Amino acid sequence: MRFDIFTLFPAMFDGPFGDSIIKRAVAAGQLDIHVHDIRDYAAGKHRVTDDYPYGGGGGMVMKPDPIFAAVEAVLGPEPQSVAPIILMDPQGRQFTQAVAAELAELPHVTLLCGHYEGVDERVRERLVTDEMSIGDYVLTGGELPAMIIVDAVARLLPGVLGNPMGAVQDSIASGLLEGPQYTRPPDFRGWRVPDVLLSGHHAEVARWRRRQALRRTRQRRPDLLARANLSANDRLLLAEIEQDEA
Ligand code: ADE
Repeated sequence: MRFDIFTLFPAMFDGPFGDSIIKRAVAAGQLDIHVHDIRDYAAGKHRVTDDYPYGGGGGMVMKPDPIFAAVEAVLGPEPQSVAPIILMDPQGRQFTQAVAAELAELPHVTLLCGHYEGVDERVRERLVTDEMSIGDYVLTGGELPAMIIVDAVARLLPGVLGNPMGAVQDSIASGLLEGPQYTRPPDFRGWRVPDVLLSGHHAEVARWRRRQALRRTRQRRPDLLARANLSANDRLLLAEIEQDEA
C-alpha cells in the first residue's frame, strides 16, 4: 500500500517511520511511504507557504497554491482520481478502527497535514476528498494524526504483523477490550500468574480469556459491550460475571 504525505515538516516523520514495525514493513515492500515537503513547491525566493487571513483576525492560513502544486506534481493533474486526498483536521470524520480497516483495503492514500490556523478553504473545497480527525482535541498540526493513521492502517496490511491473527484478536478490533496478559516468571514478588494459564488446558485458557475480556469491557467500556457481537456462550459468561460482582 502506498501513502503520499504532504507536510511543511517532513523531518517529523523520520522517527516514527524509521523504527520498529513500520520500518520493517517499508523494507519488506509491504508499505510504500512518500513524505513530500510542501515548501519545495512554493514560489519565490522565500518559498512562502502561509499568509494573513483575509478579513483580519489572528493566526496565519496555509496558501492554496503550494499545496495544489505539490499534490499535482506527485499525483498528476487529476489527483482525486488517483487516490483519496485526506486532510487532517479536527473538524473531520472521526478516525476509528473501522476507518483504519476501510483505508487498509485501498492501494493508495494521500494525507495532507494542515498547520497554523488552518488551510485556505479552496483546498478543502477543490482538492481534498475527505477530512479526518483523530479525536476531539486540537494539535499544532496534522503530522501526528497522519502518523497515527499510517500506523493503525499499516498493522492491518497482510504480513506486517508477525502473527496474522494479532490484528484480528486484539483490543477494539474484536469489539471487546483485551483481558490481562502475563509472561514469566510465574511468581514475581509473590504475585502469581493465575493457575489456569499455567495449566496447559487450552479450552480452559480460552474460556478464561474470553471471560476476562468480557469483564474488562463491561467495567471500562460498557458502550463497546452494548455494540459487540456476542455469542450465546458470551451471554452465559456475562451472566456469571454479573452474579460474581453482585
Ligand atoms: N489537526 C489538529 N488537531 C487535529 C486532530 N485532532 N485530528 C486531525 N488533525 C488535527
